Amino acid sequence: MFRIKSLALAVVMCLALAGGAFAATSYSGRLEIFSWWAGDEGPALDALVKLYKQKYPKVEVVNATVTGGSGVNARAVLKTRMLGGDPPDSFQVHAGQELIGTWVVADRMEDLTPVYKSEGWNAKFPKGLIDLLTYKNGIWSVPVNIHRSNVMWFNPAKLKTWGVTPPKTLEELFTTCATLKGKGVEAPIVVGEAWTQTHLWESVALATLGPADWANLWNGKLKFTDPKAMKIWENFGKVMECANKDAASLSWQQATDRIVDGTSAFNIMGDWAAGYMSTTRKLKPNTDFGWAPSPGTGGSFMMLSDSFGLPKGAPDREQALDWLKLLGSKEGQDAFNPLKGSIPARTDADMSKYNAYLQSAAADWKANQIVGSLAHGAVAPEAFGSQFGTVMEIYLNSKNAKAAANAAQAIANQVRLGSR
Ligand code: GAL
Repeated sequence: MFRIKSLALAVVMCLALAGGAFAATSYSGRLEIFSWWAGDEGPALDALVKLYKQKYPKVEVVNATVTGGSGVNARAVLKTRMLGGDPPDSFQVHAGQELIGTWVVADRMEDLTPVYKSEGWNAKFPKGLIDLLTYKNGIWSVPVNIHRSNVMWFNPAKLKTWGVTPPKTLEELFTTCATLKGKGVEAPIVVGEAWTQTHLWESVALATLGPADWANLWNGKLKFTDPKAMKIWENFGKVMECANKDAASLSWQQATDRIVDGTSAFNIMGDWAAGYMSTTRKLKPNTDFGWAPSPGTGGSFMMLSDSFGLPKGAPDREQALDWLKLLGSKEGQDAFNPLKGSIPARTDADMSKYNAYLQSAAADWKANQIVGSLAHGAVAPEAFGSQFGTVMEIYLNSKNAKAAANAAQAIANQVRLGSR
């Protein structure tokens, strides 16, 4: 009896193995994925591609990247390709308005609801995140992670030498900035090229308004010209007085380097900086680098999520669907996120694979008030985000809060902010 059973089992196993081998070798073709995760930003994506290649060794993966933090260059290239009828098979896009307001309303994406059903994802991703990916009953992309925008990074040993602690409020930041300048630190805060300034701005805005009014700014209930919102510019101006003068020439990685080498004391940047410091620069969280919520934003988690979608007309649709399934799987998320410096979007990940920074971010993600990022596509459509750079320029050139507020409100009206 036992022998018959084990024989049957062996036959079943052989068939399964043969089936698997057959599937793995017969399935070929091509897959082109498009993102801005080039160079320093590449290791996490490479880990995912490696997994995909293990599963589908005969598929040729074209990893098309366009360098430039926060997708400043990639989005322009993507637009040209999409409008020119040459979509990649799958592309990186931020969850929220960047996805919905640009590609979904233009009817350029496939509805992925069937994939969410077949993979059981409605029970695996937080509801709030699925809401961000939903429009008119469709779910339009697959989230690979959750990043936090409002983080302040520092070098614990340097802070000790300077005799300062991480400021918890904007007022404390201004005092600490004066103390550090008194000790010869020319630029207590380091900031980089234009988009990193918008990134800094959103943390200052959250600190100034609090989470409820930050949300009101994007749902149209609070005008940029409201005195409460005008105060953001005053605070932002003071923060920029603590910053380096060569910002325009620095990438976000170079700005992070200045914290590590102790040229500046603080940098407000998303937690891809943690990925860069731990994965690329091999630094240890808590020892070589420290973090805190950006001043005045403790208790709030300003989130953004990188996701991938399936454009209509993708040349390699089947391969792209398998890519998306991998992205959304526990295995995929746990391969990608520990290297990326982000926490998994799934709720069932294996947190033992994540470092001290990521464990603390995961705890805050559960306990904090969640708000969306402007600089990374969650709360406003791209039409607003791309023009906001001009508002920043107006302010930085004139230091005129009223002019900046008026310009921001004009763009908000033009793109009908909050109308979705
Ligand atoms: C963000 C993106 C992150 C990271 C960062 C810097 O917009 O969501 O994953 O790539 O830009 O480029």
